Amino acid sequence: MSVSPLPAARSIAALREAVTDWRRHGLSVGLAPTMGALHAGHLSLVRAAKGACDRVVASLFVNPRQFAPHEDFERYPRDEAGDAALLAGAGCDLLFAPERALMYPEGFATSVIVASVSTPLEGEMRPHFFGGVATVVTKLLLQCLPDAAYFGEKDYQQLLVIKQLARDLDIPVEIVGCATVREHDGLALSSRNAYLTPDERRIAGRLNLVLREAIAALRAGAAIGAAEAETARKLALAGFTCVDYAAVRDAETLQPITDLSGPARILAATWLGKTRLIDNMAV
Ligand code: PAJ
Repeated sequence: MSVSPLPAARSIAALREAVTDWRRHGLSVGLAPTMGALHAGHLSLVRAAKGACDRVVASLFVNPRQFAPHEDFERYPRDEAGDAALLAGAGCDLLFAPERALMYPEGFATSVIVASVSTPLEGEMRPHFFGGVATVVTKLLLQCLPDAAYFGEKDYQQLLVIKQLARDLDIPVEIVGCATVREHDGLALSSRNAYLTPDERRIAGRLNLVLREAIAALRAGAAIGAAEAETARKLALAGFTCVDYAAVRDAETLQPITDLSGPARILAATWLGKTRLIDNMAV
């Protein structure tokens, strides 16, 4: 089946015009924000949006404000033509691909900082990160004003941060979390998996396996501290070069917990050479 080329909006005015026109016709709108280098995980967000909304916008913007100077902004994979073809095939109706100067013009001076849920875990390891994410996602939500916006549970803390900001800033949008899409060996799909060497790729699949083993141990009665320590030990043993964290936390606040009486999540961040991998699961 041939798919017609995807229309692209390059200005906020063009995006708003398309969305306003759909609204005038009584159509609902879903938004799936991305940084491109799309894979089946991203496309699952577009499909979920298409299942619930009449029209779907996907944004593609590699957001410089969520990368620290030493991180991979420059080498982050970029392929807009390939991404547009994948989005069209998944049912996307409009690509919003703004230039950097459109998102952050000269004199741009505002940051959206979400406290509490953005502080632990990723917030400790990458202090710049959630400020950059919250700022760009707030802008995207206000530029598009969708009925619903779709984010992956793969970036679980990010999903919680975005839910919090939409609630706190009274942005009239439903934030929808979508299940993590994985490779056959359990590795969560990620644009950064492209950095892995064949040897690293073999080890990478162990991350999810080790998390699943920890969940089984917790359900069998293991203490939380012991399960966390065992997870970090197993990751090091599997060949991960550094473990940033392996933590069992309250699923809503991401604060440490002492028992499993409420909803809990296990989250880990770990390195293979120069590549940082994250994963998480419900306990
Ligand atoms: P990016 O890493 O491109 O991811 C875009 C969206 O796809 C995020 O909501 C992410 O959680 C989701 N996603 C990534 N891998 C997934 C997988 N394996 N299964 C399901 N969903 C997956 O996350 C960002 O971009 C940026 O921080 C962004 C929100 C766009 C703000 O710049």
